[in-house]
Amino acid sequence: MERMKRTETCGAARKEDNGRTVVLNGWVHRIRNHGGIFFINLRDRYGITQVVVDSDSPAGLAEIAAGLHMEYCIAVQGIVRLRPENMVNPDMATGEIEVSAQQIEVLSKSETLPFVIDEQTNASEDLRLKHRYLDLRSFSMQYNLALRSAVTFSVRKFLTEKGFFEIETPTFIRSTPEGARDYLVPSRLYPGKFYALPQSPQLYKQLLMVSGFDKYFQIARCYRDEDARGDRQPEFTQIDIEQSFVSREDILSLIEEMFGRVFAETISVSLPETFPRISYTDAMDLYGTDKPDLRFDMKLQDGSFLAPLGSFQAFKDALAAGGKIKALKVEGAAETYSRKKIEELEAVAKIYKAKGLAWMKVGAGNKLEGGISKFFEGKENEVCSSLNASEKDLLLFVADSNGKTACTALGAVRSKIGRDSGFCDPKKFSFVWVVDFPLFEWNEDENKWEAAHHMFSMPQEKYLDTLESDPGSVKGDLYDLVLNGYELASGSIRIHDSELQKRIFKIVGFSEEEGKQKFGFLTEAFKYGAPPHGGIAPGLDRLIMLMCGQTSIKEVIAFPKNSFAQSPMDGCPGDVDALQMEELHLKITGENDAEN
Ligand code: AMO
Ligand code: AMP
Repeated sequence: MERMKRTETCGAARKEDNGRTVVLNGWVHRIRNHGGIFFINLRDRYGITQVVVDSDSPAGLAEIAAGLHMEYCIAVQGIVRLRPENMVNPDMATGEIEVSAQQIEVLSKSETLPFVIDEQTNASEDLRLKHRYLDLRSFSMQYNLALRSAVTFSVRKFLTEKGFFEIETPTFIRSTPEGARDYLVPSRLYPGKFYALPQSPQLYKQLLMVSGFDKYFQIARCYRDEDARGDRQPEFTQIDIEQSFVSREDILSLIEEMFGRVFAETISVSLPETFPRISYTDAMDLYGTDKPDLRFDMKLQDGSFLAPLGSFQAFKDALAAGGKIKALKVEGAAETYSRKKIEELEAVAKIYKAKGLAWMKVGAGNKLEGGISKFFEGKENEVCSSLNASEKDLLLFVADSNGKTACTALGAVRSKIGRDSGFCDPKKFSFVWVVDFPLFEWNEDENKWEAAHHMFSMPQEKYLDTLESDPGSVKGDLYDLVLNGYELASGSIRIHDSELQKRIFKIVGFSEEEGKQKFGFLTEAFKYGAPPHGGIAPGLDRLIMLMCGQTSIKEVIAFPKNSFAQSPMDGCPGDVDALQMEELHLKITGENDAEN
């Protein structure tokens, strides 16, 4: 029998189709047998249509229906008819009709499923990843990947219309230093030599600027050997962008316009025309993080005045040591935060190296109660008016001799309170630019300066004379785009002068020889009329994750790795046979060797 080819999808039929003969192809989503009448929910990626086998169906069809099980792939020929009024399902797009089956063909059987599609709440992540092809059948995963496709298309359209060329860069490259470990590919032809997989196309996009492709983009796959987290995978995708003859403002407004277009086109959300900006210094001071979640306000306040005002020793010590006292007012939270809940907040503060989390509650008539209130007796009004606090507010404090620790620890407490209080509505999109980052960071372990972003970012002009003498105070022409507390994109105006590039290499500890060896091709290229240029790279996975209201990028990647950088489905990373190893001139040393 020739296969019954579908005439429409399982999401198509409506009451206007009443009486039409259709052929549907799809999977048995659910099947119910009500005393010999079979209701089959037939599913494909477009929707679900109810198929009915009853007395209107030809003789013998009930036997076929009785043999169907979940996830059998079948073809059904039938007649669209209106459901009886009391059977109309307003939650289903096809809920006003059903298809009276006239013929059913089993295209493919299914074994018992390891988990039920669309009801995988109990399935462990590894089980879902092991059978990812089944997990992807769920409507939520299909929605996520459909949105990903739509967003990618919208980005391509927008950038192409703006005159950008999409240009691929190699994935076998010389290692690009971007902070993480490289994944390496051994060379068969050159024993002991390796290609690296790119952590990003950074150097190549800069070289394309030298070549005169003044507007470049690429939906670029990047590889980084770092510990996986909710918002990190070993391989991920960037919307990589670079442009010549631009200022920071040009890049920022291009990205604002791009996201405005993409959000409107794909999820009908209208974004503000421009996004607010905050300096790195203010972000740290007011939110205790360079990735502030601005879906809620609740700023950290300066609590220095408390040291001389009261007799709490930890405050006095921190300030005397040149540190900071940071305060957080949680409006109306005095009653909701029990001692136990405050202890949970303190545990968070301690993860970020705080020595403790001091607290007080504001009672009637601004009376301070609990926690460290006894150290501020008689000073209630001063405390409350300085912190703009009133009855029922909860006041939290972290003091530390290291001012940054006080900020980050209380910032983490702020984030937890935001999440716990339901301030983080996933349907709300709060973009913010964080600008004026420091160019260098001090690496305590290695006792040296390193690039805060990467080594190719331009220092702001006013610091050019003090690069070497005071690297710590140098601000770069760097910007991050933050969305709902996640770093969505990073970029910078680049150095395009080989002498300045050499100075930066030297500050971060590359000898001239090393710089030449690793990036000689870049400094060499800059000698031939390199244009001023800059760019940015939004992470596509994080973008889709946030647009889908998810908290892990695994939910928006078709075949992600688990938290241990493995794929439970195909078992990678896996062994290779001895011949392959030999051809690649590789020998495994370590545990096995030790046993021999
Ligand atoms: P950066 O390293 O900040 O900059 O990366 C840019 C963006 O890529 C995303 N991202 C990741 N997403 C998932 N998993 C990961 N492991 C991961 N690492 C980064 C984030 C991040 O903001 N070449 C520069 C960009 C430039 O300067 O143009 C770069 O790669 O969303
Ligand atoms: P202690 O006097 O050490 O028992 O601390 C009293 C309270 O102050 C406890 O709630 C501690 O968590 C808190 N605390 C201690 N040190 C600090 C600090 N440096 N900053 C903020 N709170 C602190």
